[in-house]
Amino acid sequence: MSNIKKDFPIFTTHPDLVYLDSTATSQKPDMVIDGVAEYLRSSYANIHRGSYDISEISEKLYEDSKKIVAKHIGADSWREVIYSGNSTYALNLLAQSIWRTKLLKKWDTVIVSVVEHHANVVPWLILKEDYGINVEFVWVTDNFDIDYEDLKSKLNSSVKIVSLAHVSNTTGQVFDIAKVNYTLRAHYGNKKPLLIVDASQSVPHFSVNVSELGCDALFFTGHKVFADSWIGVLWAKEELLMKLKPIFSGGGAIGEVKQKSFTHSNKLPDKFEPGTPNLSGAVSILRAFEYLESIWGYKKLEEIEADLVEYSLEKFVKISGLTLIGSSKKKDRVGVFTFAVTWVHSFDISDYLADKNICVRAGQHCAEPFMEYVWQTHTCRMSLQIYNTREDLDLFFETLENAINDLK
Ligand SMILES: Cc1ncc(COP(=O)(O)O)c(C=O)c1O
Repeated sequence: MSNIKKDFPIFTTHPDLVYLDSTATSQKPDMVIDGVAEYLRSSYANIHRGSYDISEISEKLYEDSKKIVAKHIGADSWREVIYSGNSTYALNLLAQSIWRTKLLKKWDTVIVSVVEHHANVVPWLILKEDYGINVEFVWVTDNFDIDYEDLKSKLNSSVKIVSLAHVSNTTGQVFDIAKVNYTLRAHYGNKKPLLIVDASQSVPHFSVNVSELGCDALFFTGHKVFADSWIGVLWAKEELLMKLKPIFSGGGAIGEVKQKSFTHSNKLPDKFEPGTPNLSGAVSILRAFEYLESIWGYKKLEEIEADLVEYSLEKFVKISGLTLIGSSKKKDRVGVFTFAVTWVHSFDISDYLADKNICVRAGQHCAEPFMEYVWQTHTCRMSLQIYNTREDLDLFFETLENAINDLK
């Protein structure tokens, strides 16, 4: 067992497990599991209003958690980091708050790409259904990158938001968000649309910096980056957050409440976090980033993954009848591989692999518009994380080839 794998107790509980489904969710290291247990045992208490010791410790851990997130995404302040349930909730919160603030109006356009996860499509389609905004899809090229000619052709005065995945959860393609920002600036100057980034699949794979990307808001979800589920991160520039009218309120998110009226808090991040937050979830994110730091940070993660991606690509291209729906160039992508096999149903492949303790996923991967775009009704997805090894991949590829031979 590799040293990194030893940090993840699921592989001790199940020594034969070949877990290749980290795009769906990541496994948790001891540091996260023990860190949360220790918090619940020793200092769990509600935050904000307690002057007793464990409440103060709890409050400090909550702030430390925001601070480590801010540090890792290059945010100016931890106060710009809002916790929400997950990526899906984070964008719903942002989209509805944007509408409420009238930064979007009827007939205005939001551009997304055709590869987006539903989490970055449906919140905009809700605004389309309820209020009549337009949602435009920008296409991708044959190499699965953004089609910049198509993007430029869709930029007009009605476009108020461009909301894109940093990394696709189906193709594994990394979109050059800084280049998108440059394209928007070249077209609109200082009056450019808001640029929102779905970083759900980039933060788990490489170091992300919001100021280098040039985005106005970004979101990701804790459970894909070694933390617990039901803790999501929404970051936005302070100026934007201060302007936005939150869609939800109550609890600590208010200024004052009278019988007939109330005011929102104007403090960040409180104004976007009504009610008691997911305290142990916040601790889990803190310990998850500390874990990353303890193994030399993203450098180690990127190094391990780069080797596994190269190894996988070499193997994938040799399998006859297999179509890889994503770039075959290592530099374009992370370790998320979606594929289809002629004459063999994806669910049969994933079941065959599951029987041998190999975990992959079959279906449409919450990206139905993209599946339609590439004429696929279902595909298999294999995805990598820091705890995977070449041995995992050898077993996967050997079993995949057996599955194809036995099932066709
Ligand atoms: C690119 C992308 N965006 C958003 C999400 C949604 O994440 P969550 O289910 O945690 O809200 C996912 C989950 O697979 C994803 O891969």
